[in-house]
Amino acid sequence: MKKASEISVSMMCVDVAHTREMVRLMEENGVSYFHIDIMDGEFVPNFCLGTDYIRQLRTISKIPMDIHLMIENPDRKLDYFDIRPGDFVSVHCETTQHLQRTLQYIRSKGAKAMAALNPATPLEDLRYVLDDLDGILVMTVNPGFAGQKLVPATLQKIADVKAMLKETGHEDIRIEVDGNVSLTNAVRMRQAGADIFVAGTSGLIHGGIFTDEGFENFRKAID
Ligand code: DX5
Ligand code: ZN
Repeated sequence: MKKASEISVSMMCVDVAHTREMVRLMEENGVSYFHIDIMDGEFVPNFCLGTDYIRQLRTISKIPMDIHLMIENPDRKLDYFDIRPGDFVSVHCETTQHLQRTLQYIRSKGAKAMAALNPATPLEDLRYVLDDLDGILVMTVNPGFAGQKLVPATLQKIADVKAMLKETGHEDIRIEVDGNVSLTNAVRMRQAGADIFVAGTSGLIHGGIFTDEGFENFRKAID
């Protein structure tokens, strides 16, 4: 049975000067998550949003966070963040030697644990932590920047993740896709098995602005 698709808006793409009004529109349209990209300049060659951004965003909205940690050694830094029940927190399996313990710790905070995979990383790396996962984040671009192009092989990877979850009886685990989720790519990602979509510059946020019409078009592409 197909899971209902959800939209996680990439807040790094939203014009900071218009955040408050954009957040109101997101609430009115039923956005499921704020996708919060955290970067350390080490795992990815960029810096991005931060711990205070999450705290400040929580003062203006109750939409849960979908915190994407593109940082080395996340197991040592999880307490830097205001992680709350209802949030997704994703760590890259390439960044920790203790993935299972890190996922357990995220769940101990009441949040939903997600493992992120770079395009080249085999999904086999997750085979022995499926019991500890609420979601798998399939990077469909190399992480670190908005506005990149899809890595074509990741479409098959989404289908392979879906197949592995079915084969192992873990179909409850969500499949999120992040990177160049354009309206065209979103249709193919949905067909491959994705059910949470990071909406950024490719499919929803143009010139830093979120619009009702843009959301409606994106929604149609993933239903
Ligand atoms: C990439 C970021 C995303 C996303 C932005 O590291 O995690 O938030 O790519 O959206 P696009 O790719 O549509 O600009
Ligand atoms: Zn992201």
